Amino acid sequence: MKPTRRPHRTILAVTVLAVLLAGTWAFAAPESAVQNGQRVFSERKCAVCHALHGQGGNVGPDLSTVGAARDEAWLKKFLVDPQSVYPNTIMPPFRGTAEERDALAAYLRSLN
Ligand code: HEC
Repeated sequence: MKPTRRPHRTILAVTVLAVLLAGTWAFAAPESAVQNGQRVFSERKCAVCHALHGQGGNVGPDLSTVGAARDEAWLKKFLVDPQSVYPNTIMPPFRGTAEERDALAAYLRSLN
C-alpha cells in the first residue's frame, strides 16, 4: 500500500509548535514596571479603598487620573509615608520592597 501524504498532520504539528513557542515567549518577556505595579496594586488590595474608573472602594479618592496630578517622586514618598502628606489619613503606609514601591509609583503615574 502506498503511503498517503497527510498535510493536515503537518499543519497540526506547525500549529502546536507555534503555540509552544508563543508560550515560551510570553514567559520570557519580562514584566514592565507598570505591569508589575498593577499586580502589586491588586495584591495589596488598594481597590478596597480606591476606585479606578468607577470600580472599587470610595474610602479614598478615585485614582483614575492620579498620574496627571502627581509625579513619581511624590508618589514614592507618599506611598511609604502617607501621614507626611495627610497627617490624619487612615491610608496605611506601603510596606513592600523598594522595587514594589517603585513599580506601584510607575503604575499610578501611568493612570491619567
Ligand atoms: C484603608 C483605606 C486605604 C487603603 C487600603 C489605601 N488607601 Fe490610598 N488613600 C486613602 C485615603 C483616605 C486617601 C486620601 C488621603 C486622605 O484624605 O486621608 C488616600 C490617598 C491616596 C493617594 C493620593 C491621592 C492624591 O493625589 O492625593 C494615592 C496615590 C493612594 N492613596 C494610593 C494607594 C495605593 C497604591 C494603595 C495600596 C497600596 C492604597 N492607596 C491603599 C485610603 C486608603
